[in-house]
Amino acid sequence: MKNIIIYFLLLMAVACTNSSTNNQVLLAKIDSLQKQVNNSYKPGLGEFMSAIQVHHAKLWFAGTNENWKLADFEIHEIMEAVDDIQQYCKNRPESKQVVMLQPPIDSLNKTIAAKNIQAFKSSFVFLTQSCNNCHKEVNYNFNEVVIPTTTPFSNQLFTIPKP
Ligand code: HEC
Repeated sequence: MKNIIIYFLLLMAVACTNSSTNNQVLLAKIDSLQKQVNNSYKPGLGEFMSAIQVHHAKLWFAGTNENWKLADFEIHEIMEAVDDIQQYCKNRPESKQVVMLQPPIDSLNKTIAAKNIQAFKSSFVFLTQSCNNCHKEVNYNFNEVVIPTTTPFSNQLFTIPKP
């Protein structure tokens, strides 16, 4: 009987040592993963804005050339960037204001679906004003967005490609 108890206690001791070693291994792994997450590259608000600037310009040339499929693509790129700002730029309090782009985005989506160039142009003005309203609100009014006059992209067609 004594032997059985000793055997049992020994077994418990081995089990405990094993699980505490396992815990230490797990903690070390969690620690190293946490370090990797902290050091991983996250685009900043400025980078998302530069991307939005590109899609803002492309959207204009797509819409005014009545290439509605491309216009639809470009507005969705802007929508994705807005979602990403909300998800990845929580450290920037200004990013909360990005929701002010929703009404002009909704209105642009409607004009693109309706293939209405005049309504598209006025919704685009609304979008551009909303960009600048936010820039003013967050003290970036030195950075004014305008409707583009010439395409900065000589390597992309904005008209509907020939079949
Ligand atoms: C949340 C409010 C907000 C909205 C809405 C917004 N911006 Fe910005 N924008 C900012 C902030 C803040 C910066 C400065 C980012 C930084 O610190 O790098 C900025 C920077 C920029 C820049 C400068 C990038 C550079 O490096 O020159 C451009 C261009 C820009 N925004 C375009 C736009 C366009 C186009 C829209 C509308 C489609 C828009 N922004 C909507 C807040 C906003």
